Amino acid sequence: MASGTLLGISGSLREGSYNRKLMREAARMYDPAEFVEADLHLPLYDGDLEAAEGIPASVQRLADQIAAADAVIISGPEYNKGLSGVLKNALDWVSRTKGGPWRDKPVAIMAATAGRAGGERTQWLLRLCLTPFRPHILPGPEVLVGNCSEEFDAEGRLVNELYEAALSELMADLRKASV
Ligand SMILES: Cc1cc2nc3c(=O)[nH]c(=O)nc-3n(C[C@H](O)[C@H](O)[C@H](O)COP(=O)(O)O)c2cc1C
Repeated sequence: MASGTLLGISGSLREGSYNRKLMREAARMYDPAEFVEADLHLPLYDGDLEAAEGIPASVQRLADQIAAADAVIISGPEYNKGLSGVLKNALDWVSRTKGGPWRDKPVAIMAATAGRAGGERTQWLLRLCLTPFRPHILPGPEVLVGNCSEEFDAEGRLVNELYEAALSELMADLRKASV
């Protein structure tokens, strides 16, 4: 039965992003009562901007969405073996908001990449980058979708049963962690 509020964060801004597709597949499997997609079109973190204007409204909205969610999923691309700047920028901005929105939040991470390794390195880096905020990051199963342009059908559904099974298990665990 659908329940709870799930926040989805894609570390790629492209509308056709495979990480966005993976995030939406995860949300379908989680089956939340409400699914909210974060918008990472934020200004670049700039201490002068923060000093002059405070926390931008777009950043505060994201922090509020994280705080209000029962669980969060993050699907990040691998850029040169690391995190996308878009995702790291969002983490840095949110760290400047009050209230510690990540604290104890159940979080599941995943990645879709063109390379065969499926973003294993970026996923470890994302785990490290989230750790200072002390969320409850699920340890696994790891969802690493390599060769991503071949792994989704026209409706955005995963075509590989192994990936589908791993994501489904991850979402079942996330649901359990969010009650
Ligand atoms: C700047 C840049 C760096 C990339 N570095 C990697 C990489 O290290 N490993 C990899 O597997 N793919 C890499 N790619 C390819 C991405 O995995 C591919 O473009 C993927 O589709 C991006 O995710 P998206 O579809 O969600 O936008 C890179 C792409 C870009 C634009």
